[in-house]
Amino acid sequence: MAVSDSEIVIGRGVLEDEILPPRPSRHRVAILSQAGSSAIAGRINQALQNGPVDAAVIELPDGEPAKTLAAAEHVYRELNRLGLTRQDTVLAVGGGAVTDVGGFVAATYLRGIEAVYCSTTLLGAVDAAIGGKTGVNVGGKNLVGVFAHPTRIVIDLDVLDALPADLRSQGMAEVLKAGLIGDSELVDLLERDGLGADIEEVVTRAIAVKLGVVAEDFRESGRRAFLNYGHTLGHAIEVASGVSHGEAVAIGMVAAGVVSAELTGFDEEARVGSIITDLGLPVRLTGHLDRDQMLALIRLDKKRDQSGIRMVLLEAIGHPIVQTVDEPVILEALTAIQPSGSVGQRATGNG
Ligand SMILES: NC(=O)c1ccc[n+]([C@@H]2O[C@H](COP(=O)([O-])OP(=O)(O)OC[C@H]3O[C@@H](n4cnc5c(N)ncnc54)[C@H](O)[C@@H]3O)[C@@H](O)[C@H]2O)c1
Ligand SMILES: [Zn+2]
Repeated sequence: MAVSDSEIVIGRGVLEDEILPPRPSRHRVAILSQAGSSAIAGRINQALQNGPVDAAVIELPDGEPAKTLAAAEHVYRELNRLGLTRQDTVLAVGGGAVTDVGGFVAATYLRGIEAVYCSTTLLGAVDAAIGGKTGVNVGGKNLVGVFAHPTRIVIDLDVLDALPADLRSQGMAEVLKAGLIGDSELVDLLERDGLGADIEEVVTRAIAVKLGVVAEDFRESGRRAFLNYGHTLGHAIEVASGVSHGEAVAIGMVAAGVVSAELTGFDEEARVGSIITDLGLPVRLTGHLDRDQMLALIRLDKKRDQSGIRMVLLEAIGHPIVQTVDEPVILEALTAIQPSGSVGQRATGNG
């Protein structure tokens, strides 16, 4: 697959065989990784040691703490110490956190050197690696960053097949989102095969949706917003409840389905809910959250405009729209995702 500025290599055994695009002038490769991806980074390093380039591994703090300016500075200093020049390469091996900071460092070190990503989580492969957004957190999430494309994105299907169940489910939340906004056959596949869905087809289809939306956004501004399906309420859920991003997006998609049913006549909420459950993801909060506090968090979200809250809704699967939603409708959706049997909620039909 060769789309946008990046070549995307999806396959088995590609870690060792196809990790870097050919580049005769390259002398050094700095491999960025963190705890969860260090075994994979070690394999890549081993394979590169047998080749013509000098490779070294730079370890980042695990998870989101990798996405800081302090971690980026540590990497800049290491790149300098290792003697990387404009001819050389930063190879980010890990989930979205590593590729986000790795892409940012590569785009800014010496005003830009080559980046290559090896995405080792499902979310990283179908979402974070695709579309050219890089960055770090400075107070706010992703507040500092640049648009930059890696020359190659390597996705080893054996790695994704071996993912722990929670990381697979979390990635599936974004895969389902991709299906809902742009590929009804992907939704059919997830409905039929759940977590056992063929990983190659899952990854290829989800990436194609994201690439399509991002590419179209260059011409007709605004379509990129569709990628936020389930995220407006999802972000508030993530912040307020502390569940993982994937779980929050799953619940957020349920809530967005409720709003869609009310405003567009979307009639596949129940179907989507059972797909989410089959993917090992929640359709409700596990603990009660105050709706007004959630609404306050949603109001803070940057997707809000003067007249109300801008949300991505579905008219049907594969047909997203962006619409301003009145707060009472949001409150109804927030009721629908409260824990079942939760007290103190005046449920309005969906509770
Ligand atoms: N740039 C974008 O457009 C974009 C889009 C979506 C998300 N993101 C970013 O991506 C990040 C989330 O990515 P993520 O979900 O991959 O989480 P992550 O990168 O934080 O990784 C989650 C955990 O999985 C571990 N891990 C990585 N590969 C593994 C493997 N093969 N087996 C076992 N464990 C492994 C990591 O070490 C970490 O502990 C966030 O920072 C988010 O902001 C960016
Ligand atoms: Zn997301």
